[in-house]
Amino acid sequence: MPGPPTDTRPDVNDVLTVHGGTPLTGRLRVRGAKNLVSKAMVAALLGEEPSRLRDVPEISDVGIVSGLLDLHGVSVERVGGASDDGLELVLDPRNVEQAHLADIDAHAGSSRVPILLCGPLLHRLGEAFIPDLGGCRIGERPINFHLDVLRSFGATVDKRPEGLRLTAPRRLQGTKVQLPFPSVGATEQVLLTAVRAEGLTELRNAATEPEIFDLINVLQKMGAMISVDTDRTIRIEGVDRLGGYSHRAIPDRIEAASWACAALATGGDITVLGARQGDLTTFLNVYRKIGGAFEIDDDGIRFFHPGGDLRSLVIETDVHPGFMTDWQQPLVIALTQTSGLSIVHETVYEQRLGFTSALNDMGATIQLYRECLGGLPCRFGQRNFQHSAVISGPTKLHGADITVPDLRAGFSYLIAALAADGTSRVRGIGLIERGYEHFRDKLDALGASYE
Ligand code: EPU
Repeated sequence: MPGPPTDTRPDVNDVLTVHGGTPLTGRLRVRGAKNLVSKAMVAALLGEEPSRLRDVPEISDVGIVSGLLDLHGVSVERVGGASDDGLELVLDPRNVEQAHLADIDAHAGSSRVPILLCGPLLHRLGEAFIPDLGGCRIGERPINFHLDVLRSFGATVDKRPEGLRLTAPRRLQGTKVQLPFPSVGATEQVLLTAVRAEGLTELRNAATEPEIFDLINVLQKMGAMISVDTDRTIRIEGVDRLGGYSHRAIPDRIEAASWACAALATGGDITVLGARQGDLTTFLNVYRKIGGAFEIDDDGIRFFHPGGDLRSLVIETDVHPGFMTDWQQPLVIALTQTSGLSIVHETVYEQRLGFTSALNDMGATIQLYRECLGGLPCRFGQRNFQHSAVISGPTKLHGADITVPDLRAGFSYLIAALAADGTSRVRGIGLIERGYEHFRDKLDALGASYE
């Protein structure tokens, strides 16, 4: 597994030279979803017995969370790997202990997952220290919802120059929370804290992403009592004790969609084993609308360019069941190859379109706007952020020297470089390892030309 990066800035000396212009063709497998696996690993900390997590991807984010758990006395053992069943982790939380401050601080800037350790650590140890958070720079990404939630359970939050110190001198208490926005992380924060708090917790305006439901599956296996209503309300009855779990992670629907976009943008044909229709319904509709083709089978989905012109479209990103913000960046590369004007309105992150300027350097025609274009007004309309894009296509892309700004944009640059005529140098490629397992091996399997 790639080692944990010390932070989430690109290392510009980490370069992939890509020779574009060849359709990507072949098969690959996606493993468990990064955005479930990291949370399920944290959930293991809540149990009194070991947990087993299967189909874990070998990505650096898993290394980061393993490191953080290890600092707190949770042993993380790797079983299997490199086989069809994927990597299995055995997480043993029986010797949880307070980590040394300096050790935790060494993880500063590495990921956003540490904030989710708060609830479990408060239950287990009565205190938690959280370093400055990392994660992709795609907006401000505040943690106000998280801190409000933790305070509402009864935790005290002390902001210090080196990070946050949280304490809970007595058992956390069930509470009522209404989120201002259906945040994935804040919903997970409530779940991971409420399951062992005393009494009932009611969460309104919760996120309902498939990864959230899979985290609920994990917690239910551990002994938690959680019910979900149709109106984004989740109710949790706290319990005194949780056991371990044995769970196979849901497949990574972001990685699946990323390869689907690579097939379309390069005029190729990629079968993504492990991709599930039910997690990709909204994406599949969009794919078909712009002229992409797919065939769904029990063990995966074949995505391909059926020939002919691709069609532009108007789309906005949204929380589930809307079009995921994480699908937006790879889709934009495919949209540069469609005929006419496409509009993308990003409503989840205020700064997730900045990556398009490098695409313009490669020959794309993408103009950013501060207004909410093509859909309903969103939270960012009055806040002066360039969060709408108009893409004019089709444009032939050509090779360029580009630097990866964040995980999803990084993979999107790879797709652009593979679709482009000529040679590109993609710098900061290591960031892609945070979320795309063995992507070089997969590129080899698809016939990509790079060194
Ligand atoms: N927000 C706040 N305050 C908070 C928390 C969130 O204002 O305390 C805002 C954010 O700034 C953002 C919006 O709420 O504008 C949504 O953020 P959310 O909390 O849902 O995102 P997250 O939990 O930090 C996870 C994924 C992201 C994914 C989003 C949305 C993980 C580790 N990260 O982030 O994944 O984009 O949900 O689905 O699960 C990625 O995989 O590349 C990635 C960025």
